[in-house]
Amino acid sequence: MSVQSPTYYIRTFGCQMNAHDSERMAGMLESEGYARVEQPDDASVVLFNTCCIRENADQKLYGNLGHMKALKDTRPDLRIVVGGCLAQKDKDVIQRRAPYVDVVLGTHNLASLPRLLRESTAGPAFEILEQTEVFPSALPSRRMSSWHAWVSISIGCNNSCTFCIVPAVRGREVSRRLGDIVAEVESLVADGVVEVTLLGQNVNSYGRDLDGTPMFSKLLRALDRVVGLERIRFTSPHPKDFRADSVAAMAECAAVCEHIHLPAQSGSDSCLKRMKRAYTRSSYLEKVRMVRAAIPGVAITTDIIVGFPGETEAEFQDTLTLVEEARYDQAFTFQYSPRPMTSAADLPDHLPKEVVQERFERLIALQNGFSLESNRRMLGNTFEVLVEGPSKKDPSRASGRTRTNKLVHFLDDGATQGSLRTIRVIDARPHHVEGELVDGPRRDAKRSMSLPLVGAGTACDACG
Ligand code: SAH
Ligand code: SF4
Ligand code: F3S
Repeated sequence: MSVQSPTYYIRTFGCQMNAHDSERMAGMLESEGYARVEQPDDASVVLFNTCCIRENADQKLYGNLGHMKALKDTRPDLRIVVGGCLAQKDKDVIQRRAPYVDVVLGTHNLASLPRLLRESTAGPAFEILEQTEVFPSALPSRRMSSWHAWVSISIGCNNSCTFCIVPAVRGREVSRRLGDIVAEVESLVADGVVEVTLLGQNVNSYGRDLDGTPMFSKLLRALDRVVGLERIRFTSPHPKDFRADSVAAMAECAAVCEHIHLPAQSGSDSCLKRMKRAYTRSSYLEKVRMVRAAIPGVAITTDIIVGFPGETEAEFQDTLTLVEEARYDQAFTFQYSPRPMTSAADLPDHLPKEVVQERFERLIALQNGFSLESNRRMLGNTFEVLVEGPSKKDPSRASGRTRTNKLVHFLDDGATQGSLRTIRVIDARPHHVEGELVDGPRRDAKRSMSLPLVGAGTACDACG
């Protein structure tokens, strides 16, 4: 009679760092003999990898834990694990609000998961460390994709944006050695990966704690030399640290994609000052111009917070005009959410919900117009697309991303996931475009991505 292997279910909240941490937690469990399942009902261990960036992230976790309590009442051997940023912030609260949780671990001790699980057979095992001193050694990882990989280049953040809880839960910035990053990327490529996304809270200060000077552009150039790596993405650069040398490396390196996510947060100097973002509207816009001048066809996306404490209508108008000037391809918009351990929470003049909601809707309407306009500019042109698989909305169609990170849906011709194909854009919506696969070798995006094909959808001025 075969002994059934233990199983785990993992649910991830929050950002790409958490997605990558989940891959490592899954990797450790699989190397201990656990098999992955897609439903908590089938799992012997349920893990929640949590986020606390906004208040609703907290609420979601406690809602989910309530459901797990009901499951555990019917199956007392079920182990419940809470990891990630909210665990780091709230160890004692979790213990109080959800005493049935078996393991709590924070952001600095992922590697302890197997040990804590073993210890939890004798009673709850909670362990939170305060800081990571050196970049942790590599852990086994169970990647969610065969062709894409997250690659951590630094952890933590040394900034002190007044709205943000990340430094409190992820600690001070610690960079990973350049040689270790290159070695990991080489082994990922040998394993079939064609696209990597470099992860750090402030990628442009990468290396400052190693060498005294930021080395992000050096890292991009080193990775660009990895044979077989087609696409390099990264997130996020902080506008204050994003400099000409990084723009030059982006422009020069064939594998670095023509997309930059440059979080602005606000277009008002007084608001930026209260946020302690350490740049001004004009220095930010100068960087936008520098990127556009150096990288033809580049897509620029951003994050914006609406309703920061004390935000006046005039300050909000400055954000609207920033959006008009920057002409973002997409903006991720958030309503300000007061967070413990952040100084903005103690600022006066928090705004009523209705005011924030109304501004939020105005901002989204404005940006949707620019998103649509930017996608319409793609009409009739051909682009390299990396095939991701069946579309989530309509599995009879496939989805992929251009180098500029535009989502493309197209009729599937059996295109293999992770393959690079050429697509012609035939319809544009605010958040995706529709395309058709076109024959022929894929194009080198750095040289030909923006060249319109005269024909479908494009009329040349001379012939009408
Ligand atoms: N390191 C990145 C940001 C990481 S947090 C950077 O500096 O740009 C991701 C986004 O969440 C932020 O860009 C911000 O727009 C949003 N955010 C962070 N704290 C928030 C809060 N308290 N309320 C609302 N949005 C917040
Ligand atoms: Fe938060 Fe600012 Fe650090 Fe980004 S740079 S993680 S917003 S403190
Ligand atoms: Fe990410 Fe949320 Fe933590 S955004 S760093 S998972 S607080």
